[in-house]
Amino acid sequence: MNNKTSIQGSWASRWIFILAATGSAVGLGNIWKFPYITGENGGGAFVLVYLACILLVGIPIMMAEVFIGRRARKNPINALKDVAEESEGSKSWSIIGLMGMLAGVLIFSFYSVVGGWVLHYIKIMLTGEMLGVTSDQAGAAFGGLLEDPSTLLFWHTLFSIMTVAVVAAGVNKGIETVTRVMMPALFVLLLILLGYAMTTGSFGEGWDFMFKVDFSALTWNSALIALGHSFFTLSLGMGTIMAYGSYMTKQASIGKTVLTIGALDTLVALVAGLAIFPIIFANNMDPGAGPGLMFISLPVAFGQMPFGQLFGTLFFVLVGVAAWTSAISLLEPTVAFLVEKFKIKRITASIALGIVVWALGIACLGSFSFLSDVTFFGKNTFDFLDYITANIMLPLGGILISLFAGWVVKDKFAQDELQLSNGMFKLWNLSMKFTAPIAVAIVLYFLINPLS
Ligand code: PFF
Repeated sequence: MNNKTSIQGSWASRWIFILAATGSAVGLGNIWKFPYITGENGGGAFVLVYLACILLVGIPIMMAEVFIGRRARKNPINALKDVAEESEGSKSWSIIGLMGMLAGVLIFSFYSVVGGWVLHYIKIMLTGEMLGVTSDQAGAAFGGLLEDPSTLLFWHTLFSIMTVAVVAAGVNKGIETVTRVMMPALFVLLLILLGYAMTTGSFGEGWDFMFKVDFSALTWNSALIALGHSFFTLSLGMGTIMAYGSYMTKQASIGKTVLTIGALDTLVALVAGLAIFPIIFANNMDPGAGPGLMFISLPVAFGQMPFGQLFGTLFFVLVGVAAWTSAISLLEPTVAFLVEKFKIKRITASIALGIVVWALGIACLGSFSFLSDVTFFGKNTFDFLDYITANIMLPLGGILISLFAGWVVKDKFAQDELQLSNGMFKLWNLSMKFTAPIAVAIVLYFLINPLS
């Protein structure tokens, strides 16, 4: 093991790293996307496949990202370069870092727009504007928001400033401070909402929907969605976890730490489902409503329930916190790179990057109004960026990272960081060399050539 430290700083403890990485992993993917794709894909059997993907593909790749970052203690591009060099591999592997940074910037541009929607919903839930609305009215309210660029711009700008400010403040003063306060708050909010769903919603129905395994409801396509999502939800394939890993203390066990992060991320997704579906069922709404589940169905449901205004507001605060800590992690690898490469101050790097992603975000928020005519392969800018990042860039990054860790990095260096038992190391190595790249390649293939 090495004794290097990153010039950006290091996490105060193993638990801070766990919470920061969990903050990155737990985001809109868990609370917005996971429940609605579970709903669209029939529930229990989908959840089971998702769990298998996390364990067999997600966790091993996350271990690889953490050890590469920690070994080099540099931004992802230089980390890949150093680790490749040590194993006498080609420095071109650092291109994974470059692609990852680009993915982070592109994801941020639409993530921040959705973060803005969430901030807007905190406001309208708090003021009671959504109390007693019908589904049609809620649908019209959401549609109206999408077509109102100035409101969207206001919230997108606020969300971008909140995020850039934390990254600019640094690993310890910024990210760590927000992590220490926001992650416990997130867990408490989630438990409060679970309690609310258990006491006021149709909890049994929600539980059955998520955990009753009916394989006849599972299609081959659903299995592909589950694997694709396991990537997005764990923030894999783009160097974020690598950058966070480069600030990890050297004594901590990577295997146990990564397992904890994976377990926490999964737990939050499952509990979010258990908090949402009982409320949906109690109000006789459709669990398969798609992306509108959170912004249309839930406000209607909360609006009809006891203390719905309070708990509805808390729900959107929870989503806002989750989105914020993830957005921070989207910018960190690039800021670290700019600081290390151009020897500029972190605040300068953060503001420069902030301006770029904010401007790109405007192209995304205009997708529903003044830029709706601009399309790429038939998709508006927002959908296109979501599609190419989540479905192509992250899985591609994942394959390359696993191939790099399995075939290029010498076993002795990997094992020096991972410190696994012989059996576990073989299993991990097998996953890097074969299981993970093959599984992800299959998903990529079918995402690009969808099954009819
Ligand atoms: N994991 C986040 C979510 O589930 O919402 C999204 C994300 C954050 C993806 C950071 C990638 C990343 F680097």
